[in-house]
Amino acid sequence: MSDLPRGLLVVDLGAQYAQLIARRVRETNTWCQIAPPARALEVAREMDLGGVILSGGPASVYAADAPIVPRELLELGVPVLGICYGMQWMMRALGGEVEASEKREFGRTSIAIERSEGVFDGVDGRTVVWMSHGDNVSRLPSGFESYARSKTCPHAAVGDPSRGFFGLQFHPEVTHSVRGRELIENFVGRVCELPGDWRSVDIVEREVALVREKVGEKGEIVLGLSGGVDSSVAAMILHEAIGDRLHCIFVDNGLLRKGERDLVEATFHEHFKMDLTVVDARDRFLEKLAGVTDPETKRKIIGNEFVEVFREQATRFESASFLGQGTLYPDVIESVNVHGGNTAVIKSHHNVGGLPDDLDMELVEPLRELFKDEVRKIGRHLGLESVVVDRQPFPGPGLAVRILGEVTPERCELTREADAIVREEIENAGEHTGLWQYFAVLLPVKSVGVMGDQRTYEDACAIRIVESEDGMTADWGHLSHETLQTISNRIINEVRGINRVVLDISSKPPATIEWE
Ligand code: XMP
Repeated sequence: MSDLPRGLLVVDLGAQYAQLIARRVRETNTWCQIAPPARALEVAREMDLGGVILSGGPASVYAADAPIVPRELLELGVPVLGICYGMQWMMRALGGEVEASEKREFGRTSIAIERSEGVFDGVDGRTVVWMSHGDNVSRLPSGFESYARSKTCPHAAVGDPSRGFFGLQFHPEVTHSVRGRELIENFVGRVCELPGDWRSVDIVEREVALVREKVGEKGEIVLGLSGGVDSSVAAMILHEAIGDRLHCIFVDNGLLRKGERDLVEATFHEHFKMDLTVVDARDRFLEKLAGVTDPETKRKIIGNEFVEVFREQATRFESASFLGQGTLYPDVIESVNVHGGNTAVIKSHHNVGGLPDDLDMELVEPLRELFKDEVRKIGRHLGLESVVVDRQPFPGPGLAVRILGEVTPERCELTREADAIVREEIENAGEHTGLWQYFAVLLPVKSVGVMGDQRTYEDACAIRIVESEDGMTADWGHLSHETLQTISNRIINEVRGINRVVLDISSKPPATIEWE
């Protein structure tokens, strides 16, 4: 058994639900892990197991490629919560029946709660939940009672409190299920009786110990530090573990935002006293990019050059045989391949930061158990400032994908200055909260303007402001007219070479967040 606290196992039966469930469980201050069905028993036995949640999935329990769930999960002596597909599997496994419904039920549905106990403790009356199912439980296994019904689904929730087994036909993990969080809290706290005293920052101590154990007394680690939240927090943990045997490498590729290099040096070298090499590779990158306008070619050139620079630098630390990476939990979870039956695929977690994969170094990944919001929390706990921890995402290829057309040193400078104004004004106005990203894009367009008595013929820039949960979909964000006006005035007056500012009001899809 591991030294991790008592917690839950979320069995991933397909689709994207498992991660969301796991995040909800962790929000109750309870440790949990995710495993595909093929590995669920093994992981359950390694854990100090307090309960199991079987996730939803896209399959019908009768489908030929339905995930095969080990029955033994119901015989571990711990409570089990089945959600949607997980509930249907559980019902069949325990002797109930599941049938294709006459009416499929998708989206917002009202349910009437019939028993306010167990997972429904304190939850009564009617509530809105998010359904997504074509099959229905038509006969309950012995010991089970119905806990809630919807118009078309007499067993919208079921339970056998003597065994701590509950099933929900709907998805409590999505925010559309209004009281979903309470149901998960009840399962964790009341049914599984877990104390809710795990904190993500507790993992720091454990990771520090694990890193020490892995690299030994003399081992050294090289880490590519981009200044983004993941590599920054990874650096903090690794530094805590091995001090100056951690060698951080920051590559200035000439495509950084204003103040970025200074911030990284001030934070990690001056303040935290880490061994930091700042590589000035601006000329190399910009020379390689000269004359290139195709977006994919730009990305390839930058990726390859980064690998080259990093390789050269890493070899300077001959004695370092470990490579640190800020890989997060979502990158390492083995997920069910819903299109290829129930084979478990392990997502590639190499090259997460675009690092060379032939360096022949052993990976050290202190964040591999954590979700992004937990990494931010840990960053704060370890003393990183908000400018680092709450940074907006910044693409690896940097400003190059925000400079449409050729990337020249002059055009980089224009973009950097305009971008700094966009950030500064939005943050000064306090309008950045709730925004995913906000930045400037230099367009490959010149237009006529007039300044004083002079005709100008200069570049145009776009302001891109987006709201998003995860970067996968996004909507354009709203700014006050005053802030837009100040940004536009300042850019046109202060950035020599830009005489026009436009606003991007495209959502993703069909547009993307970045312009290239
Ligand atoms: P798109 O433009 O695809 O961007 O809508 C989605 C999110 O990903 C970021 N992004 C990148 N991040 N390397 C990264 O690390 C990249 O090459 C890259 N391209 C886009 C983008 O900023 C947005 O948050």
